[in-house]
Amino acid sequence: MTTTDWSSWHHPYDEPGSSLQRRLARVQSRLRQALADQPPGPIAVLSMCAGQGRDLLGVLPDHPRRPDVRALLVEQDPQNVAVAEAAGLEQVTVHAGDASLTTAYAGIVPADIALVCGVFGNIPDQHVHDTIHRLPQLLRTGATVIWTRHHGDPDLTPAIRSWFGQAGFAELGFDTEPGFRYSVGTHQLTAPGQPFEPGVTLFRFEGDGIAAYE
Ligand SMILES: C[S@@+](CC[C@H](N)C(=O)[O-])C[C@H]1O[C@@H](n2cnc3c(N)ncnc32)[C@H](O)[C@@H]1O
Repeated sequence: MTTTDWSSWHHPYDEPGSSLQRRLARVQSRLRQALADQPPGPIAVLSMCAGQGRDLLGVLPDHPRRPDVRALLVEQDPQNVAVAEAAGLEQVTVHAGDASLTTAYAGIVPADIALVCGVFGNIPDQHVHDTIHRLPQLLRTGATVIWTRHHGDPDLTPAIRSWFGQAGFAELGFDTEPGFRYSVGTHQLTAPGQPFEPGVTLFRFEGDGIAAYE
């Protein structure tokens, strides 16, 4: 448990040129493309530790695939949940609960797109590994995962990219920007999805979100 105010954590999103704002632009760009690339039909989207949902909620209203999308945002902080709900998109459910438990995703699996942003910099390295290896339980074959992690010292991103490969994903993109510490990875599940197992703990969230922009 951290003492971070996870609502205030979002303030730099509103500061022009901030690392967080620039990271969001990359995430949204990848998300826009992932939505556009989906085959015709329904699109299930999940967001793990969704915060205020700025990535999805910033893209969905104007996206041509909006009518096809059903999304589940899982977030624990009540203020962030309230902000995400206030967007008022009827096809977006905000679940006020523990994103570290696979059970939280029971209503959306298998998903076509997963947002795992602001997570991998806040959980132990072993849990990053384990979460990546569990993701195929939450996804359909062909699904896209958009994830973030800082690449400051120690840089875990080379290991993360190799763990995605081991878990059956192909890399669609890895975005960084000179002078900034964020990275945005985009991976596609090319191996078969795996049977969903409820009741599994994926990770322990212990970072303060401040030491680095994840
Ligand atoms: C670093 S922020 C990232 C928020 C959002 N994904 C983004 O990138 O803007 C991490 C978020 O995870 C939430 N969180 C932490 N532990 C959680 C848990 N076990 N279940 C659900 N949400 C959690 C916090 O409340 C916070 O909003």
